[in-house]
Parts: sequence; structure tokens; C-alpha cells
Amino acid sequence: MCGIVGYIGKRNVVPVLLYGLQRLEYRGYDSAGIAVLEKEENRIIVEKQVGKIRDLQEYLWNKKIEGHVGIAHTRWATHGPPTIENAHPHISRKGTIAIVHNGIIENYLELRKELIEKGYKFRSETDTEVIAHLLEEEYEENLLKTVFKVIEKLEGAYALGIISTYEPDKIIGVRKGSPLIVGVGKGENLIASDIPAVLEYTKDIIALDDEEISVLKKDSVEIYGFNGAKKEKKTFHVTWDVSIAEKGGFKHFMQKEIHEQPRTVGDTITGFSSQDIENLFSSIKDINRIVIIACGTSFHAGLVGKFWIEKFARVPVEVDYASEFRYRDYILNRKTLVLGISQSGETADTRFAMLDATKKSGAKTLALVNVVGSSLSRESDFVLYTYCGPEIGVAATKTFTAQLVVLYLFSLKLAQYRGLLSEEDFKQKYKELLHIPSVIEEVLKKDDEIKNISYRYMNAKDFLFLGRGINYPIALEGALKLKEISYIHAEGYPAGEMKHGPIALIDENMPVVVVSPKDSLYEKTLSNIQEVKARKGKVISVATDGDKSMKEISDEVIYIPEVKDELYPIVTIVPLQILAYHIATLLGKDVDQPRNLAKTVTVE
Ligand code: G6P
Repeated sequence: MCGIVGYIGKRNVVPVLLYGLQRLEYRGYDSAGIAVLEKEENRIIVEKQVGKIRDLQEYLWNKKIEGHVGIAHTRWATHGPPTIENAHPHISRKGTIAIVHNGIIENYLELRKELIEKGYKFRSETDTEVIAHLLEEEYEENLLKTVFKVIEKLEGAYALGIISTYEPDKIIGVRKGSPLIVGVGKGENLIASDIPAVLEYTKDIIALDDEEISVLKKDSVEIYGFNGAKKEKKTFHVTWDVSIAEKGGFKHFMQKEIHEQPRTVGDTITGFSSQDIENLFSSIKDINRIVIIACGTSFHAGLVGKFWIEKFARVPVEVDYASEFRYRDYILNRKTLVLGISQSGETADTRFAMLDATKKSGAKTLALVNVVGSSLSRESDFVLYTYCGPEIGVAATKTFTAQLVVLYLFSLKLAQYRGLLSEEDFKQKYKELLHIPSVIEEVLKKDDEIKNISYRYMNAKDFLFLGRGINYPIALEGALKLKEISYIHAEGYPAGEMKHGPIALIDENMPVVVVSPKDSLYEKTLSNIQEVKARKGKVISVATDGDKSMKEISDEVIYIPEVKDELYPIVTIVPLQILAYHIATLLGKDVDQPRNLAKTVTVE
């Protein structure tokens, strides 16, 4: 996830772009840059810096850059670490076209190869640079026509801002899969990834839909469909303030991030294959054991991953807390893969445990991280990414479901490389996975219903969360979400183990959240619910649509759509995130920055 902004009008463009970038910094902040069309000499000046917008601002302080047309970008690295070369804008070979991009070009490796064969030299490792070169390669007298030609070659999701010395009177904005809006001013117009970036200059907005192109001149805005047809689009007037707009209209980042999951799960599914998986899987196909190390929410993702890897790839998996693993006399050898899972890639316990493991055993290491260029990604032999953009809320939500997606695809691919899964079966499973974003969309519609349930249980002192099999880690994660943001004591437990202890806690004041979709262990979980009811506990169940029995024995049911057994964890966690969110906000807690916690713990 990155942020883009573009301006054309009467003002000096540099401060306008910097203001816009600051408003978009929540979308990423590892490097930033601007491209300005200098009118006198009709050339494009590009300036970039690694770091936050503040760093770019300081760097530009003494530079006298003047222009009335420009584009800018704040980056959150996906392809290639945060360096000046990889920062946007990217410029074509002759310096005639500059572009900024938010999204992922899935077929960039192919396109890059073709361009290299034609003699193009690449300055960056990004997927974006291909677009700048393609535009120059294809340009023939009309920039808009060239854009139409080039987008036909691009696969993936993208929002683009384009300027050119060939036609210095315009900015072109393109939207497919990544957000882009147009700010319509008087004698000036803007494009941006999000509304806050333009609010200082105009509150009149056109929201581009997917597969639309905007052509901005100083005094006009034209919109076209990808089929070339011109469109009439309505402008709407924004009345919100900047702080609400940054959260996309949501009250908290955590709520926004929960609601982003259809997109982040989708991006992570498609992003998986754009990574260097060939090299990874051919290097690890002969391993005979996997050790997963992680902390917090990432640890819970690892527990789900164990089920998938053992089921499909038939490799034994152990999952350990990084802080525990490091100080054990663990056994690893060259045939072990150590998989470190970390959203930030900076958690000290996970990093040091991985470094220790490599030093002592020579085992291969694989990092699963969300932040490109993070320490863990640099210190490991291989890396896989989740494609979530920055997660601001301290409680991990969207990165958890994305970690699950990667672990699922990892297990399937490993199974394929080990000859245990046919191409056809892989495709079938992939197809079912592609359906999950719309299933999550359905679950998100239950927000109000879950809020009502939250009202009824927000004053409980303790909660128990139960689940079985692959949904047991979801019970753990549901309990963690609730305790970290609402400060209510909560415990996750395997449903079948409850009778060996926690059952003693159950009385009429104890809400018990049971993750009980209609999977192969359903009947067993049903019996455990009966045991809770017999002791007057209050049951809140997460059940599959149409399951009438669950309604009869539960006090509350949150229904979710039916999916394949093995995919339930990516769905069942969502109502538990929403439940924790509402209980905590109803109690007046600071959900984005809960007490005593930090997003990234860089101390042991
Ligand atoms: C902190 C955060 C948790 C997170 C854990 C691991 O404790 O508060 O939300 O799950 O660190 O973080 P990582 O970045 O390694 O996934």
C-alpha cells in the first residue's frame, strides 16, 4: 500500500505535493519522492528520499524547484527494499515520462524481460519501473492513447499518476483495483489515493471507479472508461475533517483495518505468485521438518499453518514462541526449515531466535513478514510477504488473515513440489480461496449485529473462547484480541480440553465464545457446548449459515457463510475481531493504542 498525489494548477506544486503526502503517510512511510514539470526548460525534475515525508521536506528545503504540474508518492515497499532507487516517481529512459504507482503489477517480470531485450536498463527493483519504460516505448503523439495501449499489457492492481514533457498541460490518473480520487478545484485539479490529500485545496471530489482514467488539465477534468468511452461522473462535496478522512470514515484504525480484509486477503492471494517462489520451493522441497517461531498473533497464525502443512505437505511441524525457543536446547539440522512469522519483521524475540538458529545449525530460514526490507526479511534465506499495507492499530487484524493466506498457499505449493498435490487439485483449492474475500465481505455486514451482542456482554469479568482442530488457534486469537484491547480477562482453550479444568470456572456470569463451524469436528464441539449450557454458561457461537441446532443451544449465534472445512480459520476470526473491537470501544478503551502494549516490540 502506498499513497499517490498529483497537482496541476496555478500554485507552486512542491508544497501542495508535500501537504498531500503528509495526509497520506498512514499508507506507508519508508521513502517518498516528487516529480515536477519545469516549464522553462520543459523537463521533469525528480527528487526522492528514504524515510518519512519530513525527511523529504527537509531535503527539499533549499532546493529551488518551481512548477505547476507534479506528482508525488509515499512508499510502502512491496517489490524491493526502501532505497532511493526503488522510491517513486519512476522516470522513463529519456526522462520524458514520470509515473507514481500504488498496487502490484503481477506480470512485471515478463514485461521487464521484454524491455531488457529491447535495450532498456532498469534502475530499480520495483514492478513500477516497467510502466514508465512501456509508456515511452509505446508513445506516439498522444499520451492518453499510449496509456490505453499500455494498460492492456498490465496485469494486477494499480492506481497511477502520469506526467510527461510531451504533453506538459496534463496529468493522467488511472485506477484499477487500487483507490484513486480526483479533487476538482477552481483553476486547479488534483488526483490522490485518498481524500485527505486534497482537502486543503478542494472539497469537491470525483471518486474514480475501477477501470477508469482521468485526464486533468488546469481547468478541466475528463473521465474515460478502459474501453475508451468518455464518461460523465458526478462530483460530491465532502464535509468531514481530515482526521476522520484518514481513517476512511471509520472511527479507529483497527476498525478500518478489520474492514480492509476483503482487499488485503485478495491482494495477498494474488501477490503470492508474484514472489520468487520457484527458488524457494525448489530449495526446500527435501526438508523433513519445519519449525515455526513467532510471537503474539503471528504465533497463532503459525498454529493454523501447522495444520495445513502437515495435512497437505506431510512435513512435521512444531510451533514455538520465539522467546521460548531461543533458550531451549532445540534440535535443528540442515534438513529443517525454520519459518519466522512476524508482521513487522522487527520483533526482537523472533529475529534473535532466527539468527541463533542459523548460526547454530545451518538450517534454512524463511521469513513471513508484512514489512518489506524489515530486519527479519534481510536476515533470512527466503522471504514471503503479506500484502496488507501498514497496520496502524496495535492489535493485529488484517495481517493475521493475510498470514493465514500465505501459510495456506505455502502448504499447497510445498505439497505440489513434494508430489503430493496435483496441478488440478491446486487450481481447485486456489479457486476456493479466491472466494474468501467476498465471504469476509458478508461477515463484515454483521457489524451491527455483533455490536448488539457486545452490549449484552461488555460487563463480563472473564471470557472463555473454545475451538477445536484448526479452529482452536482461532479461539486463542479471539481471546488475545479481547484481552489486549478491552482489558477483560479471556482465555482460549481447546474445546475438548475444557472438561479437564476450565469447566470449573463456568457459571451464569461466564460468556463462552465457541468457534463451531460445520466442519468434521462439529458434532464434538456441539457436545462441548452442551457441557457449558448444563453449567448455565452463556454461549456465543460462531456457526455456519443454516445451522439451526446451534441457534437452539446457544444464547447468541453469529452466522458465517459456508466454506471448505480447511478455510474456516480465515473467516471465523473476523467476527471475533469485531466482537473485541465493539466491547472495547463500548467500554471506552483506546483500541488503537491499548495500555502497556506496542505495535512492534524490539526488546527481548
Ligand atoms: C506485539 C503486538 C502484537 C503482535 C506481536 C508480534 O506484541 O502488540 O499485536 O502480534 O507483537 O509482532 P510481529 O510484528 O512480530 O508479528
